[in-house]
Amino acid sequence: MYDLVIKNALLMNGYEEWHADLAVNGEKIEAVGTGLPGRREINASGKWLMPGAIDAHVHMSLPFAGSVSADDFESGSRAAAFGGVTTMIDFTAQQGDEGLRASFERRFRAADGKSVIDWSLHACIGRLTAQVLDDLEWAARFGLTSLKMFTAYAKSGLMLDDGAVFEAMRRCRSLGILPTFHAENGAVIDRLCDEFQAKGMTGIQTLPLTRPVFTETEAVRRIADLARAADAAAYIVHTSSGDGAAEIARARRSGVKLYGETCPQYLTLDDSLLKGTDGHFYSCCPPIRPVGQSEEIWKYIKSGDIQVVATDHCPFTRAAKNTWGGSIGTLPMGLPGVETMPALFLSEGRKRGVPTRLLVRAISALPARIFGLHGTKGSLLPGSDADLMLYDPAAEWAVAATGLHMATDYSIYEGRPVLGKPVMTISRGEIIVENGIWKGTPGRGRFIGRKRFDHSCALPVD
Ligand code: URP
Ligand code: ZN
Ligand code: ZN
Repeated sequence: MYDLVIKNALLMNGYEEWHADLAVNGEKIEAVGTGLPGRREINASGKWLMPGAIDAHVHMSLPFAGSVSADDFESGSRAAAFGGVTTMIDFTAQQGDEGLRASFERRFRAADGKSVIDWSLHACIGRLTAQVLDDLEWAARFGLTSLKMFTAYAKSGLMLDDGAVFEAMRRCRSLGILPTFHAENGAVIDRLCDEFQAKGMTGIQTLPLTRPVFTETEAVRRIADLARAADAAAYIVHTSSGDGAAEIARARRSGVKLYGETCPQYLTLDDSLLKGTDGHFYSCCPPIRPVGQSEEIWKYIKSGDIQVVATDHCPFTRAAKNTWGGSIGTLPMGLPGVETMPALFLSEGRKRGVPTRLLVRAISALPARIFGLHGTKGSLLPGSDADLMLYDPAAEWAVAATGLHMATDYSIYEGRPVLGKPVMTISRGEIIVENGIWKGTPGRGRFIGRKRFDHSCALPVD
């Protein structure tokens, strides 16, 4: 007799789809089969059962332009759980010349004891200091096996030059850490910002003019070239354009182990939203792109060249966005999304005829593989953590901010019709959301140290 058996669901692990019962004992998936008996049995016929989503890109309590992103680890993880997300990965924040250990310890102290779901951190730097280089070996051993860098944001002290990027890639390669990049050409962007500001053009419609698509494609191409030279794999976060995704695909075809992430906002929105009086509520970097770019990105999800969909969840309230005073230079950038990601991505993908196995893969199996969570997360195999999302594929609903749990008062998808809804979220065997009812407890989520990244091994996409 198992603790919990979910019966008759369509099991989907991102590769295969089959009808079976799934049994949980304690925190783990114990068996998959037929006729499994449970102390508690859930009849899930007509439902889909998949690994809980892994959001590999969130920013809880991130200071930005005088504000702080509105969700902390407690509220953000609760919202994530409502949406079927069972693991999230946030970032450390380097102060001054400090190394990875000091920035990790500060971020860990701020986050620990709050999250409802399991969580991890990417090491994140703005300067490749001697202390950072020293700490990389510790990071690899400790399970901080991805290093986030920026090729933009010089004015915030975050932009690395190409020499530092190349050096970081070589060190990451030798230690089993995956270098990841916010890929925009910061020097061009800063020049364009200065030019438009001098002309008095600071409104929200200037945002895409200061960060045109070529600033992304150029940076992706440069990172691909440096990765090839360093014989390292690399990962591009929040790919915002079809052209950027095409560069990732081109690099992959030429043998570079380049991996790509995109976000629901880049798959579903376009820059006409920036035209209204509420345009600044849609502000993020890179910006949402002209009509047509989203559909191009979908093509690269279908081809497997974009492997991961994550959110870049960085919500601000309308009041916080309204502090911008009409200037993008003082506008907190970032969008809410952790709670709506699984449902919205699955719905929009299904609408476009993307095979469901690719959709499930992009939000669970592949982020697990790429970020060293495989074996415990992103899988339905016995022995894995029982992190599960039960999903009603027939539910029809429309996004309304009032029904969501993120610490903001608007949704960028307000009114959008959605097909399919997560109806139960299970984290390490514990039902934390059931039919919209909250059952979790803050602080139950654990910090997860992650496995090393194997730079010599190409990841399968099919
Ligand atoms: O606008 C965004 N994306 N804010 C969060 C920080 C980042 O660059 O990912
Ligand atoms: Zn970024
Ligand atoms: Zn981000």
